[in-house]
Amino acid sequence: MKDTPINYELVKETIRKSGLPSVGDASIREIKKLIDQIEKATGERFVRMEMGIPGLPPTQIGVEAQKAALDKGVAAIYPDIFGIAPLKEEISKFVKNFMDISVSPEGCLPTVGSMQGSFAAFMTLNRMHADREGTLFLDPGFPVHKQQLRVMGQGWESFDVYNYRGDKLHDKLESYLKTGKICSILYSNPNNPSWICFTDKELQIIGELANKYNVIIIEDLAYFGMDFRKDYSKPGVPPYQPTVAKYTENFVLLISSSKAFSYAGERIGMMVLSNKLFNTTAPDLLRYYKSTNVGYALIFGTLYSLSSGTNHSAQYALAAILKAANNGELDFVSVVKEYGEKAKIMKKLFTDNGFYIVYDKDEDNDIADGFYFTFAYPAMSGAELLEEMLYYGISAITLDITGSERHEGIRACVSLVNRNQFGDLEHRLKKFNADHKS
Ligand SMILES: Cc1ncc(COP(=O)(O)O)c(C=O)c1O
Repeated sequence: MKDTPINYELVKETIRKSGLPSVGDASIREIKKLIDQIEKATGERFVRMEMGIPGLPPTQIGVEAQKAALDKGVAAIYPDIFGIAPLKEEISKFVKNFMDISVSPEGCLPTVGSMQGSFAAFMTLNRMHADREGTLFLDPGFPVHKQQLRVMGQGWESFDVYNYRGDKLHDKLESYLKTGKICSILYSNPNNPSWICFTDKELQIIGELANKYNVIIIEDLAYFGMDFRKDYSKPGVPPYQPTVAKYTENFVLLISSSKAFSYAGERIGMMVLSNKLFNTTAPDLLRYYKSTNVGYALIFGTLYSLSSGTNHSAQYALAAILKAANNGELDFVSVVKEYGEKAKIMKKLFTDNGFYIVYDKDEDNDIADGFYFTFAYPAMSGAELLEEMLYYGISAITLDITGSERHEGIRACVSLVNRNQFGDLEHRLKKFNADHKS
């Protein structure tokens, strides 16, 4: 029997019983279930890095406002599909204050999480041109977006952007757009899973090509303001959260409340359409909608069909959070900085023990410390490494499921790891390295 920090036989037996053909190919939720079972069988606590859920309490201002709205009776009333007026106003102010872009409240829409925002964007925008096919993903990315296209029967293309940073991005991107088949481009910035952040030069390349080929950029800001190398926390003061909206009017921004405001459970996010896009007409929309107008089709066609609006009380919560952020009363960035501080310590524990960071640069600069990081161990594939680490009480996901070309890589999420587990993590990584170094 091998001497590993977690009982070798018990881990092996639990993996066998799980019936998973390969741990390396398992989805995030399958890994979660497996680790729950191993923890139960062994009585040992894992360093759990597989799921991207907030590890902080919800923003209290939101909770109070939501309770007050419920007490007033909003639960009985259908909210307007396009969102309550105070929230629309605050979203518009928020993007002005923290991104320095001007958007009318009309194009600022609440959605049931940013997930509904992307679904609605794909559903509507990818139907603007009968002769085009779908979305281009700048990978690595969040696997559920592709699942959304799959369940709608829409097509997509993707490439791993890491080999095409800086000026190289231009020709690579253009090679896809030249085909005339792409309706929209989606990327997350900061990026889940790699935590790379596009530079202004790259955002400019993306924006200018969006103009040239008339495609829509869906910019997923699930980790808004969380590139902690810069201080994006002050309303109305530079630096601002970088955005493609500086370079094109063909944009939709998806801003999640889940991580920035630790409000994942209430499923509320924001979708922001540029004034131009909101008022654009596309005759091919008539195949699915009563109107050729993009804003109208999105609201009264798509969002009406999907959920007929977003949770009424949660809209009041978000309006109060944004109002406090806009007034400078809530520094939401400093609250989530804890993720970056933990990542810095954890990355060092890995690199001190024979591991290396897979996605490690934004052009010439080291990437930021944030919600996720990626790591690998010499001469092991990501799938092998993931399975082997289970015997050492460490869980994560492989990059294989994210569209990454780095098949040796693993994604670690820092949010659920408690600082009081750093000692365990260090001990387990040391033992792993001692057992595997060549
Ligand atoms: C890149 C990315 N986009 C979107 C989401 C979903 O956000 P929401 O909880 O607002 O639906 C996540 C959540 O993990 C994410 O990582």
